Amino acid sequence: MSDVAAKSTHPERVFSGVQPSGNLHLGNYLGAVREFVRLQEKHECLYCVVDLHAITVWQDPKALTQSIRELTAAFLACGLDAKRSIIFNQSQVSAHAELGWIFNCVARLGWLNRMTQFKEKAGKDKEAASIALYDYPVLQAADILAYKATHVPVGEDQKQHLELSRDIAQKFNNDFKVPDFFPQPEPLIRDDAARVMSLRDGSKKMSKSDPSDQSRINLTDDADAIAKKIRKAKTDPEPLPDTLKALEHRPEARNLVGIYAALADITSEQVLQEHAGAQFGAFKPALADLCVEKIAPIAGEMRRWLEDIPAIDAVLADGAERAHAIASPILRDTYEVVGLLRTRAIS
Ligand code: AMP
Ligand code: TRP
Repeated sequence: MSDVAAKSTHPERVFSGVQPSGNLHLGNYLGAVREFVRLQEKHECLYCVVDLHAITVWQDPKALTQSIRELTAAFLACGLDAKRSIIFNQSQVSAHAELGWIFNCVARLGWLNRMTQFKEKAGKDKEAASIALYDYPVLQAADILAYKATHVPVGEDQKQHLELSRDIAQKFNNDFKVPDFFPQPEPLIRDDAARVMSLRDGSKKMSKSDPSDQSRINLTDDADAIAKKIRKAKTDPEPLPDTLKALEHRPEARNLVGIYAALADITSEQVLQEHAGAQFGAFKPALADLCVEKIAPIAGEMRRWLEDIPAIDAVLADGAERAHAIASPILRDTYEVVGLLRTRAIS
């Protein structure tokens, strides 16, 4: 991480966001949240419940409020520390929406037309998608750059959005002749867990929108549910090979090996060294034990937090205050660079 930052004059700052829409699953945990926890040990980190992103598709208002608190509880249960990191929800810090508007004026239609996630999310009837769903990556750039964040831990599916954030930062700096005003944020993508696949179909990403609950391990699943889902996970009849190359055309097997590696914090090659020749009848129980050991305690911890809603709300209030304190001068400078006159005394 420090190599990258050394080239920039911006101090290292980490930002990431997760949408409060449905439960977190193993893919979110291994691809993103576990990395958030590690990064807070050494860096200044902001972790945001991106509720404004969630409403780009319809959300039932009561369920949304509940999901915002649940995701905050999940962050805390996974080990995010509200003293060390800034944990907050996006809609409480108006800089996101305000900078998002400025960036709407910088980003080009052609850039957004290339975003593959919009195409996936909008489905066949693009005319019926909200304008905000299309504009989603511009708000994402504002999330990051409102703090001049330099590093963004995400899963692989966010790579394209991060490239757009870099393009927006660069065009802003060029257009207004303020070189290095905004940093070029770098994605931090962990190779081993960048794409955790569905347990039912190794060609599809593990996702909260998959209609089959068997396809994913939720962070709210108890030990029995976790073990059962792994036992039933799709595999093939071959034993595990001793090289990764031999897994190339066995997506389900490769996925389970990758999950094991990520949970045990070793490489997939090391997993194969240990388990080469094993049938899934033997490998799955080992994987189930490991997964239960690492994931099951999170559900209990989450329930404890959810029994104390005022404590969750206090975390979000404090986080929003601290986030606002960082974003506010950056936004003020941005308005000044753009030439927008500010005469009212505001903090
Ligand atoms: P989302 O649930 O789509 O808002 O994603 C939250 C974070 O989890 C983002 O950084 C994603 O890139 C990451 N993520 C989501 N699904 C997966 C997956 N199946 N494997 C790895 N990372 C994922
Ligand atoms: N788009 C991200 C996702 O779907 C969520 C997100 C919103 C985000 N703003 C962000 C991630 C800023 C990283 C940085 O997962």
